[in-house]
Amino acid sequence: MSAPNHTKSAALQNIGTSSSKTFGLTMAGSWRDRRFPARSPASFRFSPSSSLFYLILVLLAIFTVALFLSQRQISAVDRDPLPHTAHFQASEEQLWGSSLGYGYHPCVKPTSRYSVPQDLGRYITVRSNGGLNQMRTGISDMVAVARLMNATLVIPQLDKRSFWQDSSTFEDIFDEAYFIESLKGDVQVVRGLPKELESVPRARKHFTSWSGAGYYEEMARIFKDYKVIHVPKSDSRLANNDLPLDIQRLRCRTLYQALRFATPIETLGKKLVARLRSKGRYIALHLRYEKDMLSFTGCTYGLTNQEAEELKAMRENTNHWKLKDINSMEQRYGGLCPLTPKEVGIFLKALGYPKSTWIYLAAGEIYGGDTYIADLRSQFPNLVTKEMLVQKKELEKFTKHASQAAALDYIISVESDVFVPSYTGNMARAVEGHRRFLGHRKTINPDRKGLVELFDLIEKGEMEDGPQLSSLVSQMHKYRQGTPRKRYGSLPGSKGRARLRTEESFYENPLPECICLSKKH
Ligand SMILES: *[C@@H]1O[C@H](CO)[C@@H](O)[C@H](O)[C@H]1NC(C)=O
Repeated sequence: MSAPNHTKSAALQNIGTSSSKTFGLTMAGSWRDRRFPARSPASFRFSPSSSLFYLILVLLAIFTVALFLSQRQISAVDRDPLPHTAHFQASEEQLWGSSLGYGYHPCVKPTSRYSVPQDLGRYITVRSNGGLNQMRTGISDMVAVARLMNATLVIPQLDKRSFWQDSSTFEDIFDEAYFIESLKGDVQVVRGLPKELESVPRARKHFTSWSGAGYYEEMARIFKDYKVIHVPKSDSRLANNDLPLDIQRLRCRTLYQALRFATPIETLGKKLVARLRSKGRYIALHLRYEKDMLSFTGCTYGLTNQEAEELKAMRENTNHWKLKDINSMEQRYGGLCPLTPKEVGIFLKALGYPKSTWIYLAAGEIYGGDTYIADLRSQFPNLVTKEMLVQKKELEKFTKHASQAAALDYIISVESDVFVPSYTGNMARAVEGHRRFLGHRKTINPDRKGLVELFDLIEKGEMEDGPQLSSLVSQMHKYRQGTPRKRYGSLPGSKGRARLRTEESFYENPLPECICLSKKH
């Protein structure tokens, strides 16, 4: 239940601004795939007179390079197997990780320079767009923006028209009184505009994405002419880096503390976690395998021809998805497809998780329903959903509201012993960041590109689903388990706005600003 809507818009933005299709799709995937930049034919130039000849040459060259790269990746792993492949056995520590947090701890207190905000009679009203996690990070950014502009923030309105079709208000999802109270020393938050300002003209402003503090200080000039600025979309994304430390910490205080879920959601979330815990340790699996997701990415591997056709038709009929012609195999080999439920099963088994492992399925409606889930359940029979953990009546009022159901998945995912997202996206990023914040709880990010090569070897009968696969998969994921590291900067070679866009998201890894090693904070 993460935000397919956001994934769409983020990917579309990228596709819209990049010069080639391959690049756009690469950006839609995880930045983690930066080790394998897409080779695009667009970067070659040739004279029109002999263009056909050169075109063939270039295509041959690209093919050779691609073949070489794919071979190299496998052989690099092959050359260096673990010493005792025949007796692969993951330790408890490897499976469930340390709960010690590696000595890091949250540090979100303001610095000594920080002052209480003044009331200058300036107001910002916001409409929050997207799914739950896009709204949460967007609201956290707007709190920081209000602080930078010395303005009072009116409780954001939530998007009701989007894909999510959710009529929930801010108060339905978040603890509104707590939000206002806990931000008192940071930003004034009010439930509505003062009466005398309700009907004054407002400046409507789409802020430029990835802007820093200077931009917003400049924007504060608008308040010379208007008392109220209206922001129609909250996903205007503050810069990830180079913001004052106090602004970064304010973003963390907002996201991790002030934006507490409303009591009914918190209560049911805790109940679900307790029920899972009573069975032992559990993995939360964020399985992205919804129809619109598969249609948008063009990922049809493992589906029937009829299903592939259905997904293609959906893509062709969805006007705001600009990319219509997608090669499913190319996408898959590029690591740009969500793992299928069956692949997730092979993956978790290869990592050494026993068949008896409890897995909580955090997901929207899975395409093909039980057909594909069965491939996972046969490998891990203790696969549960929220519907299986509570009585129908308890859940009823939540399932009618996509964002509230997503909030339950969020709580259970943050609290899990291990979190595994099958694909990238807002929810995966937000949960990973929150888990880092709370003590680097284990998050295993599948190396989709590396994995599909292994899956294909199994499919072709060239490798067995056994100790050799286990040691390869474990080695491949040694450094993809959410241990402490600084947030990544931009992709090498990217320039201008693209540079800002390719930085790792602040909310995916708020280290170093909000996670510290020293005891001083
Ligand atoms: C906001 O208020 C602070 C403290 O009074 C001031 O230093 C800063 O320049 C103000 N910023 C803007 C954008 O008005």
